[in-house]
Amino acid sequence: MFPWALRRLPGPHQEIFRHYKAVRGFIHQEIIRHKLMGPEAPKDFISCYLARITEAEDDPVSTFSEENLIQVVIDLFLGGTDTTATTLRWALIYMVQHEAVQERVQQELDMVLGTTQAVCYEDRERLPYTRAVLHEVQRLSSVVAVGAVRHCVASTRVRGYPVPKGTIVLPNLASVLYDPECWETPREFNPSHFLDKDGNFVANEAFLPFSAGHRVCPGDQLARMELFLTFATLLRTFQFKLPEGSPGLRLEYVFGGTLQPQPQEICAVPRLSSPSSGPREKSL
Ligand code: HEM
Repeated sequence: MFPWALRRLPGPHQEIFRHYKAVRGFIHQEIIRHKLMGPEAPKDFISCYLARITEAEDDPVSTFSEENLIQVVIDLFLGGTDTTATTLRWALIYMVQHEAVQERVQQELDMVLGTTQAVCYEDRERLPYTRAVLHEVQRLSSVVAVGAVRHCVASTRVRGYPVPKGTIVLPNLASVLYDPECWETPREFNPSHFLDKDGNFVANEAFLPFSAGHRVCPGDQLARMELFLTFATLLRTFQFKLPEGSPGLRLEYVFGGTLQPQPQEICAVPRLSSPSSGPREKSL
């Protein structure tokens, strides 16, 4: 709220500003590198954004600028790293907690993929149980329990309630993810929330870990892909369990922007002797 004050106060938070400067410097170097690349170079986000800056050169109200490009790349990194990594950490913890669920995921992966193929995103259609488990991980862990802070730019009404211009809005995503009217056992890990009676995957419109509307998470699709590929690959390669003599899992979250699990040790025991090392041709 008071970044100017924080910058002046001594303390460990000064580290953030040092890291921020280093990240900005790195992105700036990347922009220079992209400008020097020939037209035949593969297109990525930075090159497309640079092209838009050039296109909008004569537009006095254009918001495309190198300064904004740096900030957007920072936003993508900020929004996309902790959220996905934290969800995966919860996934492993829930798999240790629910041994039978872990085994059933592994059975499905073994049956559908065999031992040689690497996982690709299209496989989720043939892996309804694995997909349901991952959705349930996202629902119950609710890593972004409260969405980004928004500022209402015009007066409006939501379900009859007046929301005046200037109101600060904090979307309570956890209230939807734990809504007893939408979920059979809202506070329990239950993959059946996403399965029909025949074991097919079913979506639920209250599944909103990425929020909704115009400001829905722009990394939604990328995150789903990353989570599925990493989770499926980890589960088919390792069995996750507590180390000998462990006092047990610690399931209470720590609030650090996202709802994070507490640091704890989990063993990854190799379970397949020769999983394929590379992606399949189809997934390239
Ligand atoms: C499990 C993974 C993720 C979860 C649960 C998640 C969740 C969210 C949520 C709830 C919001 C706030 C939406 C709102 O205000 O209504 C958000 C915003 C955002 N997310 Fe994600 N996210 C994830 C992954 C990613 C990834 C992979 C990226 C990018 C590579 C990303 C980039 C962003 C950005 C840039 C915003 C701010 C968008 C804006 O201000 O309009 N997120 N995310």
